[in-house]
Amino acid sequence: MKQLFITGYGKIEDNILLQDHSKPNVGVNEVLIEINSAGVNPIDYKIIQGILKRIKKLSFPAPIGFDVSGIVVEKGEDVTGFEIGDEIYSRVPTDNPGTFAEYIAIDSNVVAKKPANISFEKASGIPLVGLTTIQGFALATIKKGDKVLIHAGSGGIGSFAIQYAKSKGAFVYTTTSTKNIHWVKELGADLVIDYKKENYLNIVKDVDIVLDTLGSNYTKDAFRVIKNGGKVITLIGDIDNETAKELGLNSFIRFLLSIKRMKIDKLKKRKSALYRFIIVEPNAFHLDEITSLIEKEDIKPIIDRVFSLEKSIDALLYLKEGHAKGKVIIRMKS
Ligand SMILES: NC(=O)c1ccc[n+]([C@@H]2O[C@H](COP(=O)([O-])OP(=O)(O)OC[C@H]3O[C@@H](n4cnc5c(N)ncnc54)[C@H](OP(=O)(O)O)[C@@H]3O)[C@@H](O)[C@H]2O)c1
Repeated sequence: MKQLFITGYGKIEDNILLQDHSKPNVGVNEVLIEINSAGVNPIDYKIIQGILKRIKKLSFPAPIGFDVSGIVVEKGEDVTGFEIGDEIYSRVPTDNPGTFAEYIAIDSNVVAKKPANISFEKASGIPLVGLTTIQGFALATIKKGDKVLIHAGSGGIGSFAIQYAKSKGAFVYTTTSTKNIHWVKELGADLVIDYKKENYLNIVKDVDIVLDTLGSNYTKDAFRVIKNGGKVITLIGDIDNETAKELGLNSFIRFLLSIKRMKIDKLKKRKSALYRFIIVEPNAFHLDEITSLIEKEDIKPIIDRVFSLEKSIDALLYLKEGHAKGKVIIRMKS
């Protein structure tokens, strides 16, 4: 089968190779998926750039890709709940990437039936952004009537998160640039702020939750727009101490992180706020929740561009430009 591999750390175009590789064997709890499509996420190019190498060093060639949709073509003897021919989607476990390929064997516990009313392409873009959104808003205990700021409403996360927050009955502020205002409003956002023309800090006040998809100053400034007791959930800012413990980071590294986080901790205290860094976890129950929201049409997947496996480098480079409108997808089947 054909599979994409990372061959080293550095520039995307110099460190990616499409190779022939043997089809994976299936473990007793695993299903073998014939992959139709794979969603591309910023983590894919960030791993090539080496941002995780201090946490987990890759041995090369290393498989790449976490989001997948496809068909079950084989199953291990202990697998229940899936049959050959089932149409599925998944965010594969962090220690078992490799969805930019024609087949992958994955633990059946992280697999869910794909929403029946959408294509494989659309389904493959959902797991990572959907799980991040559900798990992030669960940490913030989102509820009806909450005022929520979601940065980058036109991105992979933003375009899902707006629709999810609306399904929970929240009032949604979001930011994007001029060209995206119209379609982002159509996702249901109550107030869309054009970051090219307006400063959201003059508009957004006293929100319950900020979903910070942008990091750096956006993380610090989240504390200016939340109400007292509000919640800041970051996808990209400094790691909080609870998350650092959950990651198993040792006390010296946690000490270094606390120094880096001093300003955030001060702002958090001043606002009696919750501050958490979210690390997305594969979770089939959460995927089932997403399936039902999509089948009720509360959430519609937004696809920007679809690339072939042979054009994976272009897909990664395009996403890295930082202006995708919804999701970027790699399709294995032509
Ligand atoms: N911690 C986790 O578990 C986790 C999980 C998922 C994602 N993440 C991280 O979350 C971040 C967002 O992910 P994503 O998939 O949504 O990325 P993405 O799809 O690449 O985001 C692109 C979008 O960002 C918008 N954008 C760029 N600069 C902006 C600004 N200053 N203000 C408002 N919008 C802006 C762009 O809109 P314009 O073209 O209009 O500028 C574009 O639509 C990434 O850094 C990713 O690594 C973390």
